[in-house]
Amino acid sequence: MTAAPSPRCERVVELSADELRARLPEAVRVYVTAMGYPRWATQQRIPIWSAHMSRAGWRCVAAFNERDELSGIGYGYSGATGQWWHEQVRRGMLERLPERRAREWLDDYFELTELHVHPETQGQGLGESILRRLLASAPGTNVLLSTPEGPTRAWRLYRRVGFVDVLRDYRFSGDPRPFAVLGRTLPLDT
Ligand SMILES: CC(C)(COP(=O)(O)OP(=O)(O)OC[C@H]1O[C@@H](n2cnc3c(N)ncnc32)[C@H](O)[C@@H]1OP(=O)(O)O)[C@@H](O)C(=O)NCCC(=O)NCCS
Repeated sequence: MTAAPSPRCERVVELSADELRARLPEAVRVYVTAMGYPRWATQQRIPIWSAHMSRAGWRCVAAFNERDELSGIGYGYSGATGQWWHEQVRRGMLERLPERRAREWLDDYFELTELHVHPETQGQGLGESILRRLLASAPGTNVLLSTPEGPTRAWRLYRRVGFVDVLRDYRFSGDPRPFAVLGRTLPLDT
Protein backbone atom coordinates (compact mmCIF):
# COMPACT_ATOMS: atom_id res chain seq x y z
CA MET A 1 0.00 0.00 0.00
CA THR A 2 1.34 3.44 -0.86
CA ALA A 3 1.12 6.35 1.59
CA ALA A 4 -1.30 9.18 0.79
CA PRO A 5 0.53 12.12 -0.77
CA SER A 6 1.17 15.12 1.53
CA PRO A 7 -1.16 18.05 0.88
CA ARG A 8 0.52 20.62 -1.37
CA CYS A 9 1.29 24.12 -0.16
CA GLU A 10 -1.08 26.52 -1.88
CA ARG A 11 -0.02 29.96 -0.62
CA VAL A 12 2.41 31.73 1.70
CA VAL A 13 0.88 34.96 2.96
CA GLU A 14 1.38 37.67 5.55
CA LEU A 15 -1.31 37.58 8.29
CA SER A 16 -2.65 40.51 10.29
CA ALA A 17 -3.11 40.08 14.04
CA ASP A 18 -6.89 39.69 13.50
CA GLU A 19 -6.34 37.01 10.85
CA LEU A 20 -4.01 35.05 13.11
CA ARG A 21 -6.33 35.49 16.09
CA ALA A 22 -9.13 33.87 14.06
CA ARG A 23 -6.98 30.75 13.55
CA LEU A 24 -4.85 30.81 16.67
CA PRO A 25 -5.58 27.32 18.08
CA GLU A 26 -4.82 25.82 14.64
CA ALA A 27 -1.58 27.82 14.35
CA VAL A 28 -0.41 26.85 17.83
CA ARG A 29 -1.22 23.20 17.06
CA VAL A 30 1.19 23.37 14.10
CA TYR A 31 3.88 24.58 16.50
CA VAL A 32 3.09 21.92 19.12
CA THR A 33 3.08 19.15 16.49
CA ALA A 34 6.28 20.36 14.78
CA MET A 35 8.10 20.56 18.12
CA GLY A 36 6.74 17.19 19.30
CA TYR A 37 5.26 18.77 22.42
CA PRO A 38 2.26 17.25 24.25
CA ARG A 39 -1.18 18.37 23.05
CA TRP A 40 -1.94 20.21 26.31
CA ALA A 41 0.84 22.67 25.45
CA THR A 42 -1.53 24.26 22.90
CA GLN A 43 -3.77 25.81 25.58
CA GLN A 44 -0.73 26.99 27.49
CA ARG A 45 0.81 28.78 24.50
CA ILE A 46 -2.31 30.52 23.13
CA PRO A 47 -2.24 33.42 25.65
CA ILE A 48 1.52 33.86 25.11
CA TRP A 49 1.13 34.13 21.32
CA SER A 50 -1.82 36.52 21.85
CA ALA A 51 0.27 38.80 24.05
CA HIS A 52 3.08 38.84 21.48
CA MET A 53 0.70 40.12 18.80
CA SER A 54 0.46 43.52 20.46
CA ARG A 55 4.23 44.07 20.53
CA ALA A 56 5.79 46.72 18.30
CA GLY A 57 7.02 45.46 14.96
CA TRP A 58 4.97 42.23 15.12
CA ARG A 59 4.83 40.43 11.76
CA CYS A 60 3.44 37.02 10.87
CA VAL A 61 3.60 34.84 7.75
CA ALA A 62 1.66 31.61 7.31
CA ALA A 63 1.45 28.84 4.71
CA PHE A 64 -1.82 27.19 3.74
CA ASN A 65 -2.32 23.95 1.88
CA GLU A 66 -4.82 23.18 -0.87
CA ARG A 67 -7.46 22.30 1.78
CA ASP A 68 -6.94 25.76 3.35
CA GLU A 69 -5.35 24.16 6.42
CA LEU A 70 -2.53 26.04 8.04
CA SER A 71 0.68 24.12 7.37
CA GLY A 72 3.38 26.54 8.49
CA ILE A 73 3.72 29.64 10.63
CA GLY A 74 6.39 32.17 11.50
CA TYR A 75 6.27 35.37 13.50
CA GLY A 76 8.41 37.85 15.37
CA TYR A 77 8.55 41.42 16.67
CA SER A 78 10.97 44.16 17.62
CA GLY A 79 13.07 43.10 20.61
CA ALA A 80 13.09 45.57 23.50
CA THR A 81 14.36 46.10 27.02
CA GLY A 82 12.19 44.37 29.62
CA GLN A 83 11.09 41.47 27.39
CA TRP A 84 12.07 38.11 28.90
CA TRP A 85 13.96 36.81 25.85
CA HIS A 86 15.76 40.12 25.34
CA GLU A 87 16.97 40.21 28.94
CA GLN A 88 18.13 36.58 28.83
CA VAL A 89 20.08 37.12 25.61
CA ARG A 90 21.49 40.43 26.83
CA ARG A 91 22.81 38.70 29.98
CA GLY A 92 24.56 36.08 27.82
CA MET A 93 26.02 38.64 25.47
CA LEU A 94 27.38 40.79 28.29
CA GLU A 95 29.04 37.70 29.80
CA ARG A 96 30.66 36.63 26.55
CA LEU A 97 30.94 39.53 24.09
CA PRO A 98 32.47 42.99 24.26
CA GLU A 99 29.79 45.45 25.38
CA ARG A 100 30.04 47.33 22.08
CA ARG A 101 29.27 44.12 20.15
CA ALA A 102 26.29 43.34 22.39
CA ARG A 103 24.93 46.82 21.78
CA GLU A 104 25.34 46.44 18.02
CA TRP A 105 23.26 43.27 18.07
CA LEU A 106 20.60 44.49 20.48
CA ASP A 107 20.05 48.14 19.62
CA ASP A 108 17.61 47.57 16.76
CA TYR A 109 16.64 43.97 16.04
CA PHE A 110 13.73 41.79 14.99
CA GLU A 111 13.29 38.74 17.21
CA LEU A 112 12.31 35.74 15.12
CA THR A 113 10.15 34.18 17.82
CA GLU A 114 8.57 31.17 16.12
CA LEU A 115 9.03 29.28 12.84
CA HIS A 116 7.32 25.93 12.35
CA VAL A 117 6.13 23.73 9.53
CA HIS A 118 3.73 20.83 10.05
CA PRO A 119 5.66 17.53 9.77
CA GLU A 120 3.44 16.47 6.84
CA THR A 121 4.81 19.33 4.74
CA GLN A 122 8.38 19.64 6.03
CA GLY A 123 11.30 19.19 3.65
CA GLN A 124 9.80 21.03 0.66
CA GLY A 125 11.33 24.45 1.18
CA LEU A 126 8.28 25.85 2.98
CA GLY A 127 10.17 26.93 6.10
CA GLU A 128 12.60 28.90 3.96
CA SER A 129 9.75 30.59 2.05
CA ILE A 130 8.05 31.64 5.29
CA LEU A 131 11.33 32.86 6.77
CA ARG A 132 12.29 34.90 3.71
CA ARG A 133 8.82 36.41 3.40
CA LEU A 134 8.80 37.35 7.08
CA LEU A 135 12.24 38.92 7.04
CA ALA A 136 11.46 40.86 3.86
CA SER A 137 9.07 43.05 5.86
CA ALA A 138 10.75 42.82 9.27
CA PRO A 139 11.81 46.07 10.93
CA GLY A 140 15.33 46.45 12.37
CA THR A 141 18.97 46.34 11.31
CA ASN A 142 19.44 42.78 12.65
CA VAL A 143 17.44 39.63 13.19
CA LEU A 144 18.12 37.36 16.18
CA LEU A 145 16.71 33.94 17.10
CA SER A 146 17.41 31.07 19.46
CA THR A 147 17.32 27.40 18.55
CA PRO A 148 18.27 24.21 20.41
CA GLU A 149 21.81 23.00 19.73
CA GLY A 150 22.16 19.97 17.49
CA PRO A 151 22.19 19.10 13.82
CA THR A 152 18.62 19.81 12.79
CA ARG A 153 16.78 20.94 9.69
CA ALA A 154 16.30 24.31 11.42
CA TRP A 155 20.08 24.69 11.68
CA ARG A 156 20.59 23.89 8.01
CA LEU A 157 17.94 26.46 7.11
CA TYR A 158 19.40 29.23 9.27
CA ARG A 159 22.90 28.65 7.94
CA ARG A 160 21.62 28.67 4.35
CA VAL A 161 19.99 32.02 4.98
CA GLY A 162 23.23 33.45 6.40
CA PHE A 163 22.74 33.37 10.18
CA VAL A 164 25.99 33.43 12.20
CA ASP A 165 26.75 32.41 15.78
CA VAL A 166 26.09 35.02 18.45
CA LEU A 167 26.06 32.69 21.50
CA ARG A 168 26.60 28.93 21.54
CA ASP A 169 25.62 26.41 24.23
CA TYR A 170 23.67 29.05 26.05
CA ARG A 171 21.26 28.16 28.87
CA PHE A 172 18.05 30.12 29.22
CA SER A 173 16.65 30.26 32.76
CA GLY A 174 14.33 27.34 33.46
CA ASP A 175 15.37 25.22 30.44
CA PRO A 176 18.14 22.62 30.80
CA ARG A 177 18.71 22.37 27.02
CA PRO A 178 21.68 24.16 25.44
CA PHE A 179 20.63 26.76 22.86
CA ALA A 180 22.37 28.78 20.21
CA VAL A 181 21.53 32.41 19.59
CA LEU A 182 22.01 33.16 15.90
CA GLY A 183 21.82 36.45 14.08
CA ARG A 184 22.34 38.28 10.83
CA THR A 185 21.92 41.74 9.44
CA LEU A 186 18.84 42.86 7.55
CA PRO A 187 17.77 43.08 4.82
CA LEU A 188 18.35 39.61 3.42
CA ASP A 189 20.16 39.44 0.11
CA THR A 190 17.67 38.83 -2.64
C1 LIG B 1 12.77 24.08 10.84
C2 LIG B 1 11.60 24.06 9.90
C3 LIG B 1 10.71 25.28 10.15
C4 LIG B 1 12.11 24.12 8.45
O1 LIG B 1 11.02 24.07 7.54
P1 LIG B 1 11.02 23.04 6.31
O2 LIG B 1 9.96 23.47 5.39
O3 LIG B 1 10.99 21.66 6.84
O4 LIG B 1 12.48 23.26 5.73
P2 LIG B 1 13.19 24.13 4.57
O5 LIG B 1 12.32 25.19 4.02
O6 LIG B 1 14.50 24.53 5.12
O7 LIG B 1 13.41 23.06 3.48
C5 LIG B 1 13.86 21.79 3.87
C6 LIG B 1 14.42 21.00 2.75
O8 LIG B 1 13.68 21.17 1.56
C7 LIG B 1 14.59 21.35 0.49
N1 LIG B 1 13.97 22.27 -0.47
C8 LIG B 1 14.17 23.58 -0.59
N2 LIG B 1 13.43 24.08 -1.60
C9 LIG B 1 12.74 23.03 -2.10
C10 LIG B 1 11.80 22.90 -3.13
N3 LIG B 1 11.42 23.96 -3.86
N4 LIG B 1 11.29 21.68 -3.36
C11 LIG B 1 11.65 20.62 -2.63
N5 LIG B 1 12.54 20.68 -1.63
C12 LIG B 1 13.06 21.88 -1.36
C13 LIG B 1 15.81 21.99 1.09
O9 LIG B 1 16.94 21.64 0.35
C14 LIG B 1 15.83 21.42 2.48
O10 LIG B 1 16.61 20.24 2.56
P3 LIG B 1 17.39 19.84 3.92
O11 LIG B 1 16.57 20.23 5.10
O12 LIG B 1 17.53 18.38 3.80
O13 LIG B 1 18.66 20.58 3.88
C15 LIG B 1 10.75 22.76 10.07
O14 LIG B 1 11.53 21.66 9.71
C16 LIG B 1 10.18 22.57 11.48
O15 LIG B 1 9.10 23.06 11.77
N6 LIG B 1 10.92 21.83 12.34
C17 LIG B 1 10.46 21.53 13.68
C18 LIG B 1 10.27 22.76 14.53
C19 LIG B 1 11.54 23.58 14.61
O16 LIG B 1 12.62 23.07 14.85
N7 LIG B 1 11.38 24.91 14.47
C20 LIG B 1 12.48 25.84 14.58
C21 LIG B 1 12.67 26.11 16.03
S1 LIG B 1 13.94 27.29 16.25
